[in-house]
Amino acid sequence: MIQDMVKTYPKDAPIGVFDSGVGGLTVFREIMRQMPNEKIVYFGDTARVPYGSKSKETVTRYSKQIARFLQTQNVKTIVVACNTASAYALEELEAEIDIPVIGVVKPGAKVAAESTVNGKIGVIATEATIGSKIYSQYIEELKPGVSISGKACPLFVPLVEEGLLQDPVTDEIARRYLAELIDIDIDTLILGCTHYPLIRSTVGKIMGEKVTLVNPAYETARELKEMLGKLGMLNDSAPALGSEQYRFYVSDKADKFIRFANSIIKYGILSAKQINIEEY
Ligand code: DGL
Repeated sequence: MIQDMVKTYPKDAPIGVFDSGVGGLTVFREIMRQMPNEKIVYFGDTARVPYGSKSKETVTRYSKQIARFLQTQNVKTIVVACNTASAYALEELEAEIDIPVIGVVKPGAKVAAESTVNGKIGVIATEATIGSKIYSQYIEELKPGVSISGKACPLFVPLVEEGLLQDPVTDEIARRYLAELIDIDIDTLILGCTHYPLIRSTVGKIMGEKVTLVNPAYETARELKEMLGKLGMLNDSAPALGSEQYRFYVSDKADKFIRFANSIIKYGILSAKQINIEEY
């Protein structure tokens, strides 16, 4: 995660965060909460979402373009907020980019490995993330012998984006998806997709209180803070009054993005700039 040869930027340079669309705002929100002095540049690839059903080659190409764009904004670090992009593209980004890059998968895997008592962990995520077996790979490295069961839950993304966070339809679908994980008696469940922390209460209700839910968005913000601290890059003073702390970019129309952002982040987001990401 922390490369050997990293370029260092001033402490008050922004953090770059990207996702396939709106979901990564759950990571943005955690960074905002845990590091209130930091400036953030967020990019949501609203023109090319979803990533969860695309190939590794495509997601890697998209991720590299976005990382190049974020570097034009002089970001001091890049957070790959998307689980699918973290699963498919993190290694290549780390090799190509000379600033620290952090994904959401490793922090989530680490906490899950620490938290399981009975050695049975579940992961819910997109088809791509589950197919990549990336969570299993990291967890097995940290805690050999643990059993990891993955379940793709593709309908959760559109349900969340439709605002059906507490709804009988979401309940019913969640019951069907989660039944097999309940049957095998997992004690820890990773919410391995950007959108899932927003239906945490539905998932928690179905899994029952004996199952620990791991939110990679929260754990990533925690690790990011630790990493920036170690590198001497944590911003210790609040941005100047009147300066723009948060900037948003998208690759397609901004209105839906702004509506969704304001539904989950209490900041009053007024605009998101549309750019042509294919130019990068
Ligand atoms: N952001 C994606 C993830 O966390 C979910 C949405 C998508 O499929 O692009 O995997």
